[in-house]
Amino acid sequence: MKIPIAIHRTPTSKVTKVDVEQSPLGTVFTDHMFICEYADGMWKYPRIEPLAMIPTHPAAMALHYGQAIFEGMKAVVNTEGVPVLFRPEANALRFNNSAARMGMPTIDPALFVAAVRQFVGVEHAWIPKQRGSALYVRPFMYADEPFIGMRAATRYKFMIIATPAQPLFSKKIRLLAETNYIRAAQGGTGAAKAAGNYAAAILPTEEAKRKQFDQLLWLDAEEHRYIQEVGTMNIFFKIAGKVITPAITGTILAGITRDSVLTLLKDRGVAVEERPIAIDELLQAARDGVLEEAFGTGTAAGITIIDQIQYKDEVLQFPPSTPVATAMLQQLEGIKTQEQSDSYGWVVPADTSVQEDVSSKVYTHHS
Ligand code: COI
Repeated sequence: MKIPIAIHRTPTSKVTKVDVEQSPLGTVFTDHMFICEYADGMWKYPRIEPLAMIPTHPAAMALHYGQAIFEGMKAVVNTEGVPVLFRPEANALRFNNSAARMGMPTIDPALFVAAVRQFVGVEHAWIPKQRGSALYVRPFMYADEPFIGMRAATRYKFMIIATPAQPLFSKKIRLLAETNYIRAAQGGTGAAKAAGNYAAAILPTEEAKRKQFDQLLWLDAEEHRYIQEVGTMNIFFKIAGKVITPAITGTILAGITRDSVLTLLKDRGVAVEERPIAIDELLQAARDGVLEEAFGTGTAAGITIIDQIQYKDEVLQFPPSTPVATAMLQQLEGIKTQEQSDSYGWVVPADTSVQEDVSSKVYTHHS
């Protein structure tokens, strides 16, 4: 079934007034937004409208109790000139996992994917063409029921906006291993892409930036010993020829780029391990001369090479050569733009077929 999404286009697109190739992520927004409301136990009236302020009641529950989740995904133009998305179904599943953890309603993955495909179809002129650049698409959901009190909200908005984006980091980065603050503990919300996780990370990250680090490396909450993830990325190491990354245990985000890199490496026959990695193991590997590479993976960050990690007063310096990260960057970019064959079926075209307004009144979906 094609999910009907009403489309009301702006008569005055801003796209010709903006240099989409130069605007940093999150500074310029496209012409439209997708919006859909949840009430009476169902999602109603999905539509794409001109981007506008959304009236918010001062008691909207997201503002007080933080029921707010989001996703990040990127659209590029493939070698045939078709706007395409990377693994949108994976984002839909993770969005629902986040919603479930935060006591929020889930969304039919078919609605999520149709909304993203049609939204990017409408906004395709905003996709930067430079290699490595993309249109960053931000689906999100928040509780907009006005209520003071501690319970799950009964009304929500699911929306999508987008911003042209260059790679988040254009150079190798320096990390500070955080030994005071924590990001997530077992049983907490660390695996959800919940706004509150990012809120709690802002102060520690600002402190690290003041000390000239680019990002934090989070350690586990119990012992401050096991590597978790970087501010906006999962992390991979190459130690003595093996590629290792922290296992998904409930405290880190199940990154879609992380999963893609694991798949590509395994298919190349590279030995990969998902397991706990203690900071002492990295220090020992450095002493033994077998600490070979480190890189971060994320939607906004892509593949970001890590130059140094500071842990207390020790500095872990990674070698200049980064064969695994470079190979992954090239292969992922190649697949995303379909320069290389997409044998995994990861690339999904945007839906540019809907040109006319259609009524969305008929579509409602129980979560
Ligand atoms: C992403 O990589 O999609 C993120 O959500 C990170 C964000 C802080 C830009």
